[in-house]
Amino acid sequence: MTDFHSVTKAVVPAAGLGTRFLPATKATPKEMLPIVDKPAIQYVVEEAVSAGLLDVLMVTGKNKRSIEDHFDRAIELEDVLEAKGDDERLSKVREPADLATLHYVRQGEPRGLGHAVLCAKQHVGDHPFACLLGDDLIDQRDELLKRMIEVRQTHGGSVIALMEVPQEQVSLYGCAAIEPTSDDDVVRVTDLVEKPPADEAPSNWAIIGRYVLDPAVFEVLENTGPGRGGEIQLTDALRTLAGRGEDEGGPVHGVLFRGRRYDTGDKLEYLRTVVKFAADRPDLGPDFLPWLKEFLASR
Ligand code: G1P
Repeated sequence: MTDFHSVTKAVVPAAGLGTRFLPATKATPKEMLPIVDKPAIQYVVEEAVSAGLLDVLMVTGKNKRSIEDHFDRAIELEDVLEAKGDDERLSKVREPADLATLHYVRQGEPRGLGHAVLCAKQHVGDHPFACLLGDDLIDQRDELLKRMIEVRQTHGGSVIALMEVPQEQVSLYGCAAIEPTSDDDVVRVTDLVEKPPADEAPSNWAIIGRYVLDPAVFEVLENTGPGRGGEIQLTDALRTLAGRGEDEGGPVHGVLFRGRRYDTGDKLEYLRTVVKFAADRPDLGPDFLPWLKEFLASR
């Protein structure tokens, strides 16, 4: 019998236009921009897999075909590397295709994150599922998603990830009003606002791009009108679910995340992320860091 309570599927919205990175993103999806030598989206799929989610649905759009190619076999390239006996590169080329079972659905028109999630309805069906936003990378040493799945198993409903941000940054995020629970890192979410002005924010706990969603979110999204920016907002649907009891798809809990998050959707943060990842790499860090120190000393 199917276990309707277990989370096995991940949804990765990847339909955004990537306007902040033009002209690099004119013909290349922003999700394919490399963090050192791996596209950002591969880190996200790896994170889903390490939380036990082997069925990944990408919600893509126009100009996103290279994402499908990346997670597919590349037989010609593999043949060349195999003939050369270059096993190391061969395994790097094969890795993305072997990670998980990837599925794709296209979001015909860019109508917002909530609408992108709604595109997953048919694939997901009547099960809770995880949703991972490609702009946010969570350090693999900090196990956020597993904890969120545990919280869903204990409390039911939906679970969001919250991170404390400085007051002047709350307007960049969805923001939550929260109440404590008996667990230090878990809160009950009582209200949510998408990108509020700093002086209207219910707290400085910001939603970061990881969600475990009850399938009731689909019905709510179908009845959620355009919100901030004229787009259908996932935050608005979660606000509705936060006011509901467990028999109607509620409530919403938050996991307070105090680990390392990298925002690759912003140019400056993207640069910081690449530098941090390079510094941590055993094959690059030992050469890169002394150079970086010298470079900074010379400025
Ligand atoms: C989206 C969500 C927002 C959340 C953010 C996290 O916004 O709508 O609630 O705080 O992701 O990265 P976006 O950054 O896509 O505008």
